[in-house]
Amino acid sequence: TAEDIQPVSWTLAILTATLPSFRTLIADVHSLLKMQVPGIHTLSLDSYNYSTYHPADQITNWMVEVALRHPDVVQLHLLGQTYEKKNILYLKIGNRSEQPKKIIWMDCGIHAREWISPAFCQWFVKEILQTYKSDAKVSRYLQDMDFYIVPVLNIDGYIYSWQTNRLWRKSRSIYPGNACFGTDLNRNFDSAWCSVGASRDPCSETYCGPRAESESEVKAVANLVRSRKADIVCFFTIHSYGQLILMPYGHPDKNASNFKELLDLGLRAAEAIKKKHGTTYRVGPPSSILYNNSGSSRDWARDMGIPFSYTLELRDNGTHGFLLPEEQIEATCQEAQAGVMLIVESVHAKYFSGATALASLWLTITASYVAGWALTRGNL
Ligand SMILES: *[C@@H]1O[C@H](CO)[C@@H](O)[C@H](O)[C@H]1NC(C)=O
Ligand SMILES: *[C@@H]1O[C@H](CO)[C@@H](O)[C@H](O)[C@H]1NC(C)=O
Ligand SMILES: *[C@@H]1O[C@H](CO)[C@@H](O)[C@H](O)[C@H]1NC(C)=O
Ligand SMILES: *[C@@H]1O[C@H](CO)[C@@H](O)[C@H](O)[C@H]1NC(C)=O
Ligand SMILES: *[C@@H]1O[C@H](CO)[C@@H](O)[C@H](O)[C@H]1NC(C)=O
Ligand SMILES: [Zn+2]
Repeated sequence: TAEDIQPVSWTLAILTATLPSFRTLIADVHSLLKMQVPGIHTLSLDSYNYSTYHPADQITNWMVEVALRHPDVVQLHLLGQTYEKKNILYLKIGNRSEQPKKIIWMDCGIHAREWISPAFCQWFVKEILQTYKSDAKVSRYLQDMDFYIVPVLNIDGYIYSWQTNRLWRKSRSIYPGNACFGTDLNRNFDSAWCSVGASRDPCSETYCGPRAESESEVKAVANLVRSRKADIVCFFTIHSYGQLILMPYGHPDKNASNFKELLDLGLRAAEAIKKKHGTTYRVGPPSSILYNNSGSSRDWARDMGIPFSYTLELRDNGTHGFLLPEEQIEATCQEAQAGVMLIVESVHAKYFSGATALASLWLTITASYVAGWALTRGNL
């Protein structure tokens, strides 16, 4: 048990040292740990209900417990802070490796009222962790890639949607002279910022903020993505509702260089989704199948050179809208899981196919041959 705790305590210790505001969480974790000794494996994780919506503090506890339970493949990290100085945490899931790894990014809960989104991030993590030991494919994914999962990005807004206004969408920042709270975080990224499908009116649901990346939540994502952009091969951002797989771009004048590849893969994901429970998802750039917009994280990620970038708009297609009943969480997550995993499989195959492995083996052999040749020639 002590061993299990170690890696997380280590991470937490670093965070405590570097970030005073992290101490509240640490205090919680430590009291949690004290209570648990010696029975860390009887934490409430076993009875965690993935078919119900959870408030922010429960999701934070869940993240800590997941990290404690799976110290071999899960690390808890701090992405940044919200406007109200709440810690935005993410789970990094993957085997430790000496080799450089690729990254699959997934964020949930950028729009507060889309509660099915954080529910899906949690479902996704559960599925990965339940299968990585038995499923050879998932095991390969964790060996070659790390999943970076942000279950709730817009924590301030999410809490506000639980406590005050169920249909709150934006962040909770306020700027001097503005009549209203909140910036639409998915209009605040630096991609054709505020040019189309976004508003400069602070009271609008699509207020783009005073400038690109003005919001600390957006800055937190952008900083991490910028620093790892060469390694991130796939960027998922999860929303509701509409049953759509959206690809770049939302801006009508922009087009992705790998448009066809993105579309084909998206269509195959939609097929995988349909196979599960018969639910229909449409696929395409928002400028063709939804509405024109700018400043979204999906478009910005593609601008950064991340080849595969998708927004999933989960169930439903208008009956309940943002108020998706809990009875539908399971089926919604199951089908979305199928779609996401199809994309993950394809992306993984592209970067870690036999051909790539052979090429790197060839390079290794060639390099050692050249080194050997150089050695025998005494030519170093
Ligand atoms: C989980 O939550 C759902 C929705 O509230 C409920 O129907 C179900 O009975 C719960 N499952 C358990 C095991 O408590
Ligand atoms: C990944 O880590 C898990 C847990 O330590 C281990 O069981 C598994 O064998 C590892 N996989 C690989 C491919 O090294
Ligand atoms: C983007 O370019 C592709 C060709 O590469 C074309 O088929 C498609 O219609 C274009 N899409 C948009 C939205 O302009
Ligand atoms: C909404 O989704 C359901 C389930 O996939 C489907 O039967 C129905 O045709 C869809 N309606 C529209 C307007 O797309
Ligand atoms: C987006 O803007 C273009 C150009 O103004 C227009 O042709 C297109 O119909 C718009 N797309 C949507 C979905 O409204
Ligand atoms: Zn949304």
